[in-house]
Amino acid sequence: MRLVLVGPPGAGKGTQAQFIASHFAVPKISTGDIFRSNVSDGTDLGLEARKYMDAGDLVPDEVTIGMVKDRLSHDDTSEGFLLDGFPRTVQQAVVLDDMLAAHDVGLDVVLELVVDDEEVVRRLSGRRTCRRCGHVWHLDFDPPATEGVCDRCGGELFQRDDDSELTIRHRLEVYADQTSPLIGYYGDRGLLSGVDATGPVEDVTERAINALRRFGD
Ligand code: AP5
Repeated sequence: MRLVLVGPPGAGKGTQAQFIASHFAVPKISTGDIFRSNVSDGTDLGLEARKYMDAGDLVPDEVTIGMVKDRLSHDDTSEGFLLDGFPRTVQQAVVLDDMLAAHDVGLDVVLELVVDDEEVVRRLSGRRTCRRCGHVWHLDFDPPATEGVCDRCGGELFQRDDDSELTIRHRLEVYADQTSPLIGYYGDRGLLSGVDATGPVEDVTERAINALRRFGD
């Protein structure tokens, strides 16, 4: 299955991506995670990306597209993949279509996770991530037993620099201006499937997997 997850910041793309990718046995490719790992390793790509990420803006297409082209050239993507956070502009979508067409394949489905802005602000301002294993917690919806400590590995929890309320609201504007046109782009091509992404995480996973079942199991 070749699948794209789309939705506003905090819709639960990262949370759902791990369950969906494991259910359909495809690699999960998150551009946000690749950028963050470059930031923490201090690479040139990370230094460039950080300027945009901290402000809640998109990293320029030429940087992002080159990085995704490289990742999609790895053998593990030949039978399918789940893209989380890419494409995020119509230009990125057009390049992705061209990249796949060059191998005589195409996307099977684009799954949109639907939540409203106030839920996004609640989710992102309470998000905490483990520095060691990367697990994502939430102070209210999925709290760790001990504040600031990951239950899974004992690692330290931190708040992402782009999760302040001001930056979250700016990211929502960027989503509305630059990413939401993808809904029409993929809708016109008959690829879009939307699910309600509110309620317990397990319920959202069940809805997502049910919506995707006809594309491969
Ligand atoms: P990225 O990391 O992709 O950020 P995002 O799209 O803003 O998405 P988030 O990671 O904030 O949220 P999510 O939808 O994954 O939600 P999560 O599952 O964590 O990108 C970061 C930056 O990188 C961008 O701003 C940009 O600068 C750059 N970038 C990345 N890709 C790019 C591209 N293609 N082009 C250009 N630039 C790019 O959940 C959020 C919280 O909610 C968690 O605490 C979680 O526990 C909780 N939660 C999840 N589901 C539920 C639920 N059902 N109920 C209650 N709480 C829930």
